[in-house]
Formats: sequence, structure tokens, C-alpha cells
Amino acid sequence: MGLFRIKHTNFEEIFSFKDLDTLDEEEWKIFDRLNEESWKQRYQYEKTIVDSIIVDNPHIKNVLELGSGPGVLSQYILKDNRNLNYHLVDKPFAKKYFDEHNFNGTFFVKDLSNSFDTSGLMDCYDLIITNDFLEHVLNPHIIVKTIYELTNKNSVYLISNPNWRMAHQFLYRGLFDFDNLLYFLYVHGFECVGLYGSQLKTPNYPRVSSETLLPEEHLYDWNHYLVFKHREDFNV
Ligand SMILES: C[S@@+](CC[C@H](N)C(=O)[O-])C[C@H]1O[C@@H](n2cnc3c(N)ncnc32)[C@H](O)[C@@H]1O
Repeated sequence: MGLFRIKHTNFEEIFSFKDLDTLDEEEWKIFDRLNEESWKQRYQYEKTIVDSIIVDNPHIKNVLELGSGPGVLSQYILKDNRNLNYHLVDKPFAKKYFDEHNFNGTFFVKDLSNSFDTSGLMDCYDLIITNDFLEHVLNPHIIVKTIYELTNKNSVYLISNPNWRMAHQFLYRGLFDFDNLLYFLYVHGFECVGLYGSQLKTPNYPRVSSETLLPEEHLYDWNHYLVFKHREDFNV
């Protein structure tokens, strides 16, 4: 039996380590995109998803958003939900923008690339949001494991997951394909209880084998907004 040797030389074409933004401390020093109309529409749409989750879960009071950027989505949400206690976590320049714009909420600077130090945060949140964030960090396991510990059976975890068809940056290609993400969350104690689609559509590349659970009408959604709760049968 011959050993087949794999050439590793093309990995830099797939993903270049110099583009590893999770280690970039200066991320959000430039924030041009926040003024673009398309981004405002996107945040407005995402706010309506959170509003609908709050209607379905009226106990929601304490909210944590990880990888929030400067916190624009939080301001859309807080405008109509003033009673929320909203915590945000991201990098130093994101906090600078948040402070300079007198945004509401409490912003924590933490490096979430490879660990999750929860000091300063509450013991438990009613709603946790990661909006296009998990696919950027080196250790999504430690993030999701800690999110489980920071939630209870009544809590909701909302993930915005970019569709691979829109050529977003994915550190671990394949992990964020639809079925694989559901499985990843499942082994960390979460079950998916809902899916919201996206207004924006991707190019129509065909379905792949790791998308058997993705409904046809959501195949070309730019993002999938997935709602999770604790699995009832999870005791790890
Ligand atoms: C694609 S952006 C999404 C930002 C925001 N949620 C939104 O939808 O506009 C990914 C976010 O993850 C944050 N992030 C990436 N690596 C991080 C790290 N090591 N520690 C803290 N935040 C990080 C980035 O600063 C950025 O705000």
C-alpha cells in the first residue's frame, strides 16, 4: 500500500494567516461600512428578528452580545426595548466608537480569540447573540461551551451564521456549513428551535452534502439566523 503525500502548499491561497483578523488588535480603527445604507438596513432587519424573539420570550432582560463590533445593532434593539440590560464584548477600537457615540449598554473589551474570561459579566443571561462572530475565532469550542455555562434552560442563543456562498472569512471551512454547525451546537448542549432567513441573497451555487437540513427556501440566504435553547437531555 503506497502512502499518498498531500501537498500543503496551496493553503495560503485558501486562507492566508496574515488575514487572521481575530488577532488584529486594531480591528475597527476604520469603520467606513457602518455608514453604508445596506448595513443600516441589515441591522434594522436583525433588530426585527431580536424583537420577535423577545415577543416569544418576554422574560428576556439580560442580553450579552459577543463580537458586537462597535454596537450598532444593540442601539437598534435598545431603542424599542429600553428595559434591557445589554452587555457587549469586542475589541478596543470597537469600544472607542461605542464610547464616542454615547451608545447605551455596557461594553467590555476582551480578547476572545482563544479563551473566554468572563470576569465582569453576569452569571447568567436570558439572551446571547453572536452575529457573524464564531467563524472568526481560533477556539469556537471555548466560546460555545462558555455560552452554555452563561445560560439556563429558559435562555435563548441567537447565532447569525454567514452562508458559505457569500465568501465570508471562515477560519474552519466546513464547520459552519448548515448541518455541521447544528451538530457542533448539539454536542455543546444546544438544540436549534428556529431559523430566520435573510433579505439578501447569495449566488446560487448548488446544495452541498453538509446541508441536508437546510430548507430549500433558505439555501441562498446571505445569513442564517439560528435560534438555540438548551437541550433537555444534555447533562455533561
Ligand atoms: C464579522 S464582524 C461582526 C461584527 C458585528 N457582530 C456585526 O455584525 O456587525 C466579527 C466581530 O468579531 C470581533 N472579534 C473577532 N475576533 C475577536 C477577538 N479575538 N476578541 C474579541 N472580538 C473579536 C471583531 O472585532 C468583529 O467585531
